[in-house]
Amino acid sequence: MKTRQFRIAKGQFSAKLLKWDMETNNRKMPWKGEKDPYRIWLSEIILQQTRVEQGLQYYQNFIKAFPDIHKLAKAPESKIFKLWEGLGYYSRCRNLIATAKYISKELKGVFPDDYNSIKSLKGVGPYTAAAISSFAFNLLYPVVDGNVYRVLARIFGINEPIDNTNGKKIFNFLAEELIDKREPGRYNQAIMDFGATICKPQAPLCDTCIFKKQCYAFLNKNTGQLPVKEKRIKIKERWFYYLVLEYKNTIAIRQRKEKDIWRDLYEFPLIELKKKINPGKLINTTINDLKLSHTKHQTPYSSSLYKQKLSHQLISGYYLFIKIDKKPILKNDWLWVKKSDFKQYTFPRFINSFLSENPIKS
Ligand code: ADE
Repeated sequence: MKTRQFRIAKGQFSAKLLKWDMETNNRKMPWKGEKDPYRIWLSEIILQQTRVEQGLQYYQNFIKAFPDIHKLAKAPESKIFKLWEGLGYYSRCRNLIATAKYISKELKGVFPDDYNSIKSLKGVGPYTAAAISSFAFNLLYPVVDGNVYRVLARIFGINEPIDNTNGKKIFNFLAEELIDKREPGRYNQAIMDFGATICKPQAPLCDTCIFKKQCYAFLNKNTGQLPVKEKRIKIKERWFYYLVLEYKNTIAIRQRKEKDIWRDLYEFPLIELKKKINPGKLINTTINDLKLSHTKHQTPYSSSLYKQKLSHQLISGYYLFIKIDKKPILKNDWLWVKKSDFKQYTFPRFINSFLSENPIKS
């Protein structure tokens, strides 16, 4: 590996950062300074792919409903999913349930206290294992998340891409050299806080930054170019046409079994297409294809357009309302749910956005 002359000695970095943490850092979060590994694990799982501001309320709700791991392990899964609703990436919730059951039953509620056992838990990768190990047990494992990549890339002027194997190796190696040997937990939280509040992705607060005399990116006026990413994410376009079929006081829904981010959540019967088509036309072809007997009292109609951007896909779609007066002989995974029972089911955010504007009223 090429060696680069750093303006800040690696040995000074943690001391300066911890001083900033002690004197200036006023970021408050309920899991900060927490020592209970259960609470730390819960907060870290919630914070994977979720912004702190969004995760806060979910964390509070979970702690209130399940103050310890046995309570979480014993809870009905539908209750846990309902509390998770809106956070997305539901595999996190499934893994959370599996890990809670494993620790509660197999480990008698005792959270593992070494890095490798923690990393072997379902839903826990290297980042989360380092966070739990350092926060709960003060073990010497650096967290390397988006904040850390940004802070290190800028201060130390590293222009290796953060999304390839070689780049990751270089950042991990540097992170291991920099971590404070006495207070790895406080150091890890401090570097994340520093990235989130000072060395922000856009408009970093360089003027007041403690590293401004040493920061490679500030001195070279290229904070906007660091960190470097190699791959541009390809966004996949998907078109969802949901059938809101109403029969007597019931609506058809099904549980998603596809192995994707919405597995086990509920949805309306779905027609998925790669391209946009006219929703009015689709209503007519669907009525013919499924031999739906729509009531004469209400003409079928379409909702307005809904969109949701995910990290790798753009979901767009319409809801097609069709009131029917005969129950169709249809797919056997459809459930006809009473409108008054609708709230008990957990839906993806794409559907909840629609439901908040078009509540199902009994
Ligand atoms: N993101 C993931 N873990 C975090 C933590 N402990 N504090 C702030 N942001 C985080």
